[in-house]
Amino acid sequence: MKNDKWKDMRSTLSPAFTGSRLRQMFELINQVAEDSTNYLHKLHSKESCNGIELNLKDYATRFTNDAIASTAFGLQVNSFEEKDNTFYMLGRKATSFSFWMNLRLLLIIQCKGLAKLLRIEFVDKNSTKYFCQLVLDAFKYRKERNIRRPDIINLLMEARGLFPTDSPKAHNREWTDTEMVAQCFLFFFGGFETMATLICFAAYELMGNPIVQEKLFEEVEEINKRREGKRLTYEDLQGMKYLEMVVNETLRKWPPIITLNRICTKDFLFEADGERMEIKKGEVILVPVSGIHRDPQYYPNPDSFDPERFSAENKDQIKPFTFLPFGEGPRNCIASRFATLEAKAILYYLVRDFRITAAKRTALPIELEKNGLRVAPINGFWLKLIARNKI
Ligand code: HEM
Repeated sequence: MKNDKWKDMRSTLSPAFTGSRLRQMFELINQVAEDSTNYLHKLHSKESCNGIELNLKDYATRFTNDAIASTAFGLQVNSFEEKDNTFYMLGRKATSFSFWMNLRLLLIIQCKGLAKLLRIEFVDKNSTKYFCQLVLDAFKYRKERNIRRPDIINLLMEARGLFPTDSPKAHNREWTDTEMVAQCFLFFFGGFETMATLICFAAYELMGNPIVQEKLFEEVEEINKRREGKRLTYEDLQGMKYLEMVVNETLRKWPPIITLNRICTKDFLFEADGERMEIKKGEVILVPVSGIHRDPQYYPNPDSFDPERFSAENKDQIKPFTFLPFGEGPRNCIASRFATLEAKAILYYLVRDFRITAAKRTALPIELEKNGLRVAPINGFWLKLIARNKI
């Protein structure tokens, strides 16, 4: 979406990520995080051994899948127990960048007219049909039974005027069914691979930096003791400063989205340090996020994983526009607070209950895939988790 249409939709969806809505959504995320930790314990107890070796990507993908199912689509799925559930299988299919998918994407971006003529669509028909049905049925079901839930479906229903709202901006336009479903799907698309990548790299860095892992464990343990067996709260996580530093440093070293793009809306002459560059209307600008994040002039010793860069004393030294994991400006990631909350929740449980160590198949040093659009190690994120109560 562009211009006013995008603005209207953005202001419709933005309330999903205010503090009070996030606090409500946290309950849904926390449930999924607990379920996924229980699954790890189950695995651990099956193997009489001294730890489980697993490709964390599979684990993280199932976690983010279930979190989005719950917070965006209002569905309760457990992809750990029900491995091949339809939501997970179709979601994976729709978001895995196969060779043909990359080609279709390229055609849609570069040759819009031809792609339209040949009726080439980015997401395959079965997935589209499934997700449309899911969202539209949820609208109907909830309307008939007056079911309110702190999720995106609820907001979209407010935007349609199906439920009353206290947000004056919510019902600002007549949206089609396709536009409604597309929002849920965009949330799926925006949050699936990115979230899993963040969780995997955070765990990988904790494995490679045991001192950081222990320091994080101390912070987690302090909260855990204070909870005295009661459930983790939104405020607990918000108060965990070292966890936040670890998440930020992971996003700095391994930004899941490696470039940003913008379309220039009017001819522009860019002049800096004696250099001139003309940018024409309609041209696309790419901002090399990972290049900036690894530039030693902004981050000394950029390949080392050092959460202290983001401590209260140091973070002011980070120059504006040099930390861009969620983009910048009005079109930045709408869900950045939600994303860090989700990552913090799963890392909290992982570090509380397990020590993260290297598995036999862990690639040290890491070797990245060279094709495609993803940042991922060639052989997967193999790690070994040892239950702390067994150490
Ligand atoms: C670690 C996780 C995530 C990262 C690193 C990330 C990063 C980004 C980036 C870089 C952009 C483009 C910003 C720009 O061009 O300035 C973006 C846009 C977006 N992201 Fe995220 N994202 C993450 C998680 C999520 C999640 C969980 C959701 C949904 C629940 C989401 C939904 C979106 C949407 C809808 C947009 C488009 C916003 C617009 O154009 O108005 N993202 N994200």
